[in-house]
Amino acid sequence: MTYKLLLLPGDGIGPEVMAETERVIHWMAKHRDLKFSIERALVGGSALEAEGVPVTEETMALAHAADAVLFGAVGGPQWDNNPFEKKPERGLLRLRKELELFANLRPAICFDALKDASTLRADVVSGLDILIIRELTGGVYFGEPRGIMEMNDGTRRAIDTQVYTTGEIQRISRVAFSLARLRSNRVASAEKSNVMHAEFPDVELTHILADNCAMQLVRRPKQFDVIVTDNLFGDVLSDEAAQCTGSIGMLPSASLGAKDEKTGRQPGLYEPVHGSAPDIAGQGLANPLACVLSFAMCLRYSFNKPDDAKLIERAVERVLDEGLRTGDIMQPGKKQVGTTGMGDAIIAALDRLDLGVAQ
Ligand code: IPM
Ligand code: MG
Repeated sequence: MTYKLLLLPGDGIGPEVMAETERVIHWMAKHRDLKFSIERALVGGSALEAEGVPVTEETMALAHAADAVLFGAVGGPQWDNNPFEKKPERGLLRLRKELELFANLRPAICFDALKDASTLRADVVSGLDILIIRELTGGVYFGEPRGIMEMNDGTRRAIDTQVYTTGEIQRISRVAFSLARLRSNRVASAEKSNVMHAEFPDVELTHILADNCAMQLVRRPKQFDVIVTDNLFGDVLSDEAAQCTGSIGMLPSASLGAKDEKTGRQPGLYEPVHGSAPDIAGQGLANPLACVLSFAMCLRYSFNKPDDAKLIERAVERVLDEGLRTGDIMQPGKKQVGTTGMGDAIIAALDRLDLGVAQ
């Protein structure tokens, strides 16, 4: 089986972190029982510049045809004042919506080597392993009506609509409850109703108001296991959880659609949570680990290759244990490397793990 991958590096540090991820993809193809065919396309600001839109019809067709999409990042200050439809982020939102990627998995794991890199005390974050399930194709991000209108008195009025249907709530809740069964059987729902609980009597469900959830995440984050939440709260809470782990530069994510029971296909888009970081773009400073870990999630969720995913995760852990750090996770006494330096180290760690050296 050859897996069709579409790479969308995007803007800012996207292309830099994607280049290191491609090295890992090639390594996996060479050393493991995996075959990939790779297509590339533009998205976001780079697509706007070259093609006039944040994502073209051709790129959408490639995304629909792919077994999985690997996404870098979009956005930058040069496009901040663009009209709504010409914002780089519209490219990402269109991909999410049209591929129906309603379930966004955002694990926040504190690697042991990084427990002192967080702004929270090490005892609060060490061993942290939570999974935020963010609804991704509904809510205020897509609700209608929306827009800005001129009033008779010359002022303006802006509307966004926060809206969810029962079906949308049920399908995201099912994802959360099912994944909780593979962990510690607990789900905290940040402002959702109790509609799904009867189907999953073995999973403990608690409700938490989203503002309290935000506070508890910095007070005692380890009380959580799976948090399920809507699109907007998920956006906010996942950035907060990211900071608990030491750096947003470490966090991968998966955006999944529904599995087609006939073909077994399940659309998936994998993306680092960190964004385009225009302040350090093009300088070779970005941390590629979140993008590399997103590819590991792709192996796990789209291709059902948990062992290959684990190999990559172990290589990342190994490199951190060896003391290598990009600037965002730098600590006293550690060795600072750039984007390619970190990529070199990951490849070297994969080589060593492959040879069974010092397992
Ligand atoms: C995220 C980002 C996006 C979002 C932006 C880039 C549209 O912040 O993936 O968390 O708001 O969903
Ligand atoms: Mg966000």
